[in-house]
Amino acid sequence: MLSTFQRTSVNVRILLRNKNRALVTHCFTRTHVNMANQSSPKVQTLYELCRKTFTPTGTPPASSQAIYELCSLLDTVDPADVGLKIENPDDDQGHGFFGLDQLNQAARWAQPITYLDIYECNSFTMCIFCFPTSSVIPFHDHPRMTVFSKVLYGSLHLKAYDWVDPPSIQQSKGKGYPVRLAKLAVDKVLTAPCGTSVLYPNSGGNLHSFTAVTPCAVLDILSPPYREDAGRKCTYYIDYPYSYPTRGRDENNDGKGEDYAWLAEIKTPDDLYMRQGTYTGPAIQP
Ligand SMILES: [Fe+2]
Repeated sequence: MLSTFQRTSVNVRILLRNKNRALVTHCFTRTHVNMANQSSPKVQTLYELCRKTFTPTGTPPASSQAIYELCSLLDTVDPADVGLKIENPDDDQGHGFFGLDQLNQAARWAQPITYLDIYECNSFTMCIFCFPTSSVIPFHDHPRMTVFSKVLYGSLHLKAYDWVDPPSIQQSKGKGYPVRLAKLAVDKVLTAPCGTSVLYPNSGGNLHSFTAVTPCAVLDILSPPYREDAGRKCTYYIDYPYSYPTRGRDENNDGKGEDYAWLAEIKTPDDLYMRQGTYTGPAIQP
């Protein structure tokens, strides 16, 4: 069953081709290393904390203490806790872009991002994204949502913006489509082991993009989940530099420079390849 993330991204191409099954098996071989030493799997503890913390509407928002506790637990989660084996960069079949002939390059560009559903309810979604090298989830938003992201292995470039408040909307010169001003919140490479990143409805980088520097995996907790009929639709964007020309605004020397960008809404990118894999970690006991 497809997750809410995927259902709201209706144009994302979900690849379920049998010929790629071998890759899924390779990436997500179940391990029992940590499970044997725990009375309750860490992912079950995480689930129970989420049940205590989140509501279906996102109100009242989670307390800072609850967020601290969730981050503290997430900080300790490693690949084995969720049934993952660390991908060896030498085995990566992602689309690295150096030193490839054209045929190789075409084959590698075909490698998708794999999505694993761990658990979903009305209040939150727990899932994993597994990225081949240089794969990208482009800028997208999380309206009225809080999202926790924990890099489980590998390196991932995170770039994130928040909307400027009050909203500043301009028309681009030429084609005249609307662009909206956003402020840069995060622009860094996260390399495991590292702490948990959190974005909030209006801060922390609610609009973000992920680019895999190496093969990597991210455990995400989203609350509340994407739900289009509740106004929580996933929308994709492209970012333009602050100097991008807009109508009635030729002078861009007002000091905002690199900290700001104009975001334009786009349809789900055609090259966003995502497929569903099978979660093989400890099953959640609701
Ligand atoms: Fe996201």
